[in-house]
Amino acid sequence: ALLLTGSALLPGRRRELKTQTDQRELRVYGNQTSDTELAKAVMAHQFHPSVLGPESWEGYKFSDMEIRIKESTDLYGAVLWPSAMVLCHFLETNQDKFSLRDKNVIELGAGTGLVTIVSSLLGAKVTSTDLPDVLGNLQYNVTRNTKGRCKYIPLVTELTWGQEVEQRFPRDTHCFDYILAADVVYSHPYLEELMATFDHLCQETTEILWAMRFRLDPENSFVDRFRQRFHLEQLYDLPSLSIKLFRAWRKDKGTKNHGEAAA
Ligand SMILES: C[S@@+](CC[C@H](N)C(=O)[O-])C[C@H]1O[C@@H](n2cnc3c(N)ncnc32)[C@H](O)[C@@H]1O
Repeated sequence: ALLLTGSALLPGRRRELKTQTDQRELRVYGNQTSDTELAKAVMAHQFHPSVLGPESWEGYKFSDMEIRIKESTDLYGAVLWPSAMVLCHFLETNQDKFSLRDKNVIELGAGTGLVTIVSSLLGAKVTSTDLPDVLGNLQYNVTRNTKGRCKYIPLVTELTWGQEVEQRFPRDTHCFDYILAADVVYSHPYLEELMATFDHLCQETTEILWAMRFRLDPENSFVDRFRQRFHLEQLYDLPSLSIKLFRAWRKDKGTKNHGEAAA
């Protein structure tokens, strides 16, 4: 986990990217004007169990619901990463512009499932995906936190980036309103496969909401390559967490007026 936790903050680059437009987006989407305030609001969703029981869990509060997440330490996907909290905070506080109610949503690299759970609590029909090894714990967390609380029962299923994506998610029958992704770009060898998966799943009307933690240069170049295919809008910039939240949509097919929500 060293590669993941070691942060490459790249302050110069951040400053360069932090344009006036970014500042405007912070105001529009967050109501908080500073990184510190926003980071504090994001982290305030977490709480720790007051009494230690036989099973350890991390507590989160979203949508007025208590969410208990079981982690383990052996796999990246078994740990909850702060990007997931950033994305959940955004979804919860921007329901007027980004309503998930009755929307078809897919999450890539869902890990311990917080984003899937919060999206389901907010009314989405969620397909929660990850590598096979991660699915057991993901299913456990998703069931434990959504059963009897959500309109739609989330579907937990394998999606290994770049593998059999058309067979598992044919474009003719699987059109998603949103693709959600938190902390899926880091030093793994499947960045091209991840790009191809975004490309396959993102149709004309699909929007991608992607929280990215910046660590190392090669991963940053993923953003530049991503920008060649997709329009990219920055929704949050959180230098103190080294996280940015992006919204994206297809360049080649887009007919929808994506400027609306940002206006
Ligand atoms: C850093 S974790 C983030 C987990 C979760 N989104 C969060 O923010 O807490 C990266 C996730 O991507 C998944 N992942 C890594 N490589 C993958 C691949 N080739 N195909 C599908 N998922 C992958 C991991 O299993 C893990 O759940």
